[in-house]
Amino acid sequence: MSETEKTMHTALVRVDPGHIDPAVMECAGGIIKNGGLVAFPTETVYGLGGDALSAGAARKIYAAKGRPSDNPLIVHIADMEALPPIVKSVPPAAIALANAFWPGPLTMIFMKTDRVPDETSGGLPTVAVRMPVDPVAAALIRASGGYIAAPSANRSGRPSPTSARHVMEDMDGRIEMVLDGGDANIGLESTIVDLTEETPVILRPGFISPDMLRDVIGDVRLDPGLLDAAANKGVRPKAPGMRYRHYAPNAPLYVVEGSEQAVTAGIAERSARAIQEGKCVGIMASDKTAALYEELLGSKAAADGDAGRALKDGNSSEAVTGGKAVIFSIGNRDEDITIARRLFSVLREFDDSGADVIYSESFDTPKLGMAIMNRLLKAAGHQIIKV
Ligand code: TXA
Ligand code: MG
Repeated sequence: MSETEKTMHTALVRVDPGHIDPAVMECAGGIIKNGGLVAFPTETVYGLGGDALSAGAARKIYAAKGRPSDNPLIVHIADMEALPPIVKSVPPAAIALANAFWPGPLTMIFMKTDRVPDETSGGLPTVAVRMPVDPVAAALIRASGGYIAAPSANRSGRPSPTSARHVMEDMDGRIEMVLDGGDANIGLESTIVDLTEETPVILRPGFISPDMLRDVIGDVRLDPGLLDAAANKGVRPKAPGMRYRHYAPNAPLYVVEGSEQAVTAGIAERSARAIQEGKCVGIMASDKTAALYEELLGSKAAADGDAGRALKDGNSSEAVTGGKAVIFSIGNRDEDITIARRLFSVLREFDDSGADVIYSESFDTPKLGMAIMNRLLKAAGHQIIKV
């Protein structure tokens, strides 16, 4: 979208999730009731909210995001009573999952009623519904009439926003208001489960894992379109949004897979070569390996014995050739929520630091590995280097 389409002033309003100011919520809710757009925090990522029952609001959301209008929106509710009017039936599995995980980072797909316009559901006969746990999100939904359609508040193709600053980068001048409730706690979008099939199907992995779902409802399948792209040529993911190029930083991104030792050596070797060619190399490391790259690539910070602190905010090492490495630790493998929280933010930071090429470790951790790798491999366009 061109600069000229940035047509309005975007108010950035800080909201303390512990002491929500009712006057702010009334104002934000009023904007949505009048057909405008307000971005707001949720526990997963920031959402770009509009009235879910208004075709016009849905069209505005697609325009602000630069998103194809056949990619349906998730309808956010704050109370269980809001569900029956928008869905044809609530299967027992949905009630069990709602009891276990709502409010929280789970989205369920139902057959929709006519209350939900085709613009919101992207022309599908189904609707995706989520009840977020974030108190600011819940207060906004209630102040807006009970139904907010909200995709992630990024411009289409960009990494999802996990802070109000990310939202402003993408949406300033395109929407009426951004509510800043601090950094997102989970950092990856909700798990999506389709309950319109006989056996529930996971359309998008997230914080709520397949095992957590199985503990509540037994049998759950994974959408075959989700599995490794190379092994599934021709199988299209059922969630339309999972088919698009997504999350991609400006520079080509490669995920390097192998034993820990082979991966660090492989990344260091490729990075050293690129630095010699005068390039800016981005390295996506973890807490345990970040200092090692610094050492292998001969950085100043490592020599100062200050690598840990410098690396937390990303650290760069200039070489005589003019090439350099920008190294970010995205978190601790033993606590993979730290990786989930930082992934999208780090992908944005590589753009800010002007990386020409990015190498990432693989983060196939036991708990959130499936959700993390689903986003990382998409960002990489499935470019994998096996070492
Ligand atoms: O955590 C989240 O779910 C965030 C926050 C803001 O709630 N929202 C979010 O929305 O990730 P979005 O629009 O970025 O992703 C929604 C995904 C898309 O892949 C879309 O295709 C899929 O959900 N989806 C929505 N409605 C669907 C439907 N009826 N059938 C299949 N997939 C659907
Ligand atoms: Mg999205």
